Amino acid sequence: MNKITYNPGVVNKIVKKPLIFLKKILPDIFFKSLLSFIHTVYKFIKRYIYLISFLSKYFFLSKEKKIKCMFVFKLFPFTMGGSKALENAFDMIRYVDENKIEGGIVECGVAEGGTSAIMALTNRISNFPTRNLYLFDSFEGLPSPTSEDFLNGKTGDFIRPLDKGDCLGKIEDVKYLLFEKLKLNVSKIKLVKGWFQDTIPIFKFSEKIAVLRLDGDWYDSTKIPLENFFGNISVGGVIIIDDYATCYGSRKAVDEFISNISSKPELKPDGRGGAWFIKKA
Ligand SMILES: C[S@@+](CC[C@H](N)C(=O)[O-])C[C@H]1O[C@@H](n2cnc3c(N)ncnc32)[C@H](O)[C@@H]1O
Repeated sequence: MNKITYNPGVVNKIVKKPLIFLKKILPDIFFKSLLSFIHTVYKFIKRYIYLISFLSKYFFLSKEKKIKCMFVFKLFPFTMGGSKALENAFDMIRYVDENKIEGGIVECGVAEGGTSAIMALTNRISNFPTRNLYLFDSFEGLPSPTSEDFLNGKTGDFIRPLDKGDCLGKIEDVKYLLFEKLKLNVSKIKLVKGWFQDTIPIFKFSEKIAVLRLDGDWYDSTKIPLENFFGNISVGGVIIIDDYATCYGSRKAVDEFISNISSKPELKPDGRGGAWFIKKA
């Protein structure tokens, strides 16, 4: 058993109980609106706390760290994962670029596109040719969880169970972020819209994969890309599992997969509850 655990922040711990209570007494529609409002305010505050912390250390930071912090601040509104997930995505792209690991970048679970965008921006500032970016999502939000996702009646240690349609990112908004706002190269980015169950098994890469980022929350949404794409990942390439310690099904899919491959990779924490490992062979 590895030690990768979910460490909810202080605010999460404080608001969890009142929110569970409100969920019981409020009609669903009011509760969802309230939650969305709290989440927006929370993200706004966290983003500026991040900025203040960055500025307070500014003169002591390396050029690379300054760029990383600027990217994180810029993309914070477009991610559900927070600063640690963005920083980890930055670090993983730097690692594959510096080590000249061959292949494209793949994200399965894009939502509003924040982590996809930081990976593309990081590659753009590296001394390495522009990589292709393959982005898979329903762009209709999450599917329903299956029985594989539940442990003691819960799918994870969240304030509320995630429902079908949650974590929605619209494809038009992602395109606007990537191509209009960030001016990324359209010919290098492929958006694959649809359920992983339909799109992934038939998708053919014409190159290797350097980074596979899995952020689909559920068992099937983790297992399908792992099983279909693992063979295409370069040796030395990276697999990131954003929900390893937060979603029980995602962890189960990864643990089962690793137990069935001969090289036993070492899972490392991203500091928030996600994990990553390097493909050995
Ligand atoms: C937690 S969000 C991704 C967060 C994103 N990486 C970010 O930076 O904020 C999960 C995403 O996975 C997608 N997803 C999950 N399971 C899926 C499936 N089976 N097929 C297609 N999309 C799926 C959802 O539509 C949702 O956008």
